[in-house]
Amino acid sequence: MNMQAIAALAPVIPVLTIERLADAVPLARALVRGGLPVIEITLRTAPALDVLHAIASEVEGAVVGAGTVLSGDQFDKAKRAGARFAVSPGCTPNLALAASTSGLPFLPGVQTVSEAMELAEQGFRLLKFFPAGAAGGLNWLKAVAAPLPGMRFCPTGGVGADTAPAYLALANVACVGGSWVAPGDAVARQDWTRVERLAAAAAGLKHP
Ligand code: 3PG
Repeated sequence: MNMQAIAALAPVIPVLTIERLADAVPLARALVRGGLPVIEITLRTAPALDVLHAIASEVEGAVVGAGTVLSGDQFDKAKRAGARFAVSPGCTPNLALAASTSGLPFLPGVQTVSEAMELAEQGFRLLKFFPAGAAGGLNWLKAVAAPLPGMRFCPTGGVGADTAPAYLALANVACVGGSWVAPGDAVARQDWTRVERLAAAAAGLKHP
């Protein structure tokens, strides 16, 4: 599956920063049960690669990827752990090269039209718009729709249950990313029923 096909699986990509390895599998299972199979694990915690591996090997139906990929060597590490895709808050020539060498589908981040144009030149058609809330949100996406035809975005960063429907209603939004479906307090209490409920609500949002 390429990145577009992965993004088409669900309207929301949960972005998870998991501190306790033991939470990984039950949390991912709750998300998959709720209808969100595409899951991003940020490489920002000590157990992140083990978390990826546990979900990739134990959670049927999950399509798990690595997030916060900031250096080229992380592509291979993530791939070896079982990642099916990689996400970065931005992009550099080194990262784009490492992504293509690894063969992992890659969702690079942009915040400006020039960054989007540079990645379009390299063949990318789906980009993470990050940090969406702080960088112009809905207005930015509406404004770039005509000048950047053919480009689609996954707005992430400051997106929540309240704003996700408006993002998803835009033709140039393929899906949205966010951490709201797995709130810190629910994870701390291992309240997987609540996570499943939030996931089901997110999975029911209109997919463009
Ligand atoms: C992140 O990097 O943590 C993601 O962009 C998620 O952002 P959010 O917590 O605002 O959804």
